[in-house]
Amino acid sequence: PERPYVIDEMISAKRIAARIEALSQEIHDEFSDTDKLVVVGLLRGSFVFIADLVRELDLPVEVDFLEASSYGNSTESSREVRILKDLRGEIEGRDVLVVEDIVDTGHTLTHVLHLLNSRHPKRLKTIALLDKPSRRETNMRADWTGFEIPDEFVVGYGIDFAQRNRNLPFIGKVRFTDEA
Ligand code: PRP
Ligand code: MN
Ligand code: MG
Repeated sequence: PERPYVIDEMISAKRIAARIEALSQEIHDEFSDTDKLVVVGLLRGSFVFIADLVRELDLPVEVDFLEASSYGNSTESSREVRILKDLRGEIEGRDVLVVEDIVDTGHTLTHVLHLLNSRHPKRLKTIALLDKPSRRETNMRADWTGFEIPDEFVVGYGIDFAQRNRNLPFIGKVRFTDEA
C-alpha cells in the first residue's frame, strides 16, 4: 500500500525557465566555436529539461539519449548503475554535453562520464538542473547546475516518485501526510 502524500511547489516553472535561459547563455559561450554539439539526455529523468534546454541553445545541436538506471522503482540508490540503452551516435572527437535532471549520490553521472570519456570525445561537459550536495558519495560535480537544493524528496519536471509525477511542470517536494 502506498503512503499518502501531497506535493508542495519548491521551484516554479517560471523560475526554471529563467534559470535555463541564463544557463544556455553560458553553454553557448563555452561551445560557441563548435561544429556540432552532441547533447546527451539521461533517460528518463532528463527528458523535460533537455527539451527546454536545447530550444534555448542557438548552436548546431544533435540530440541523443542514454539510459542509465540506479534506482528503478526504489527510492534508495543501488550504487550499481546499469546502462539500459546506449547512445545511437559516435562521440569520438565530438563536443558532448551530458544533461541530467538531478545529481544525488553522484553514482549515475560518475558512471556515465567514465563510460563516455572512454570513447574519447573532444570536450565533455555536464549540466544538472538540480544538485543535492549533502547526499554526495562521489566527488562528482556538474559543470553547470540549475539549483542547489536541500535533502528533500523532489518530483516533477521529469523527476519521478515510483515512476509518477514526471509530468508536473514545476519541481515539487513530497510531503507524507501520515507523519505527525
Ligand atoms: C535518478 C535521477 C538521476 C539519478 C541521480 O534516476 O534521474 O539520474 O537518479 O541519482 P544519483 O546521483 O544518486 O545516481 P533514476 O535511476 O531514478 O532513473 P530515471 O531517470 O529513469 O528516473
Ligand atoms: Mn535519472
Ligand atoms: Mg527515477
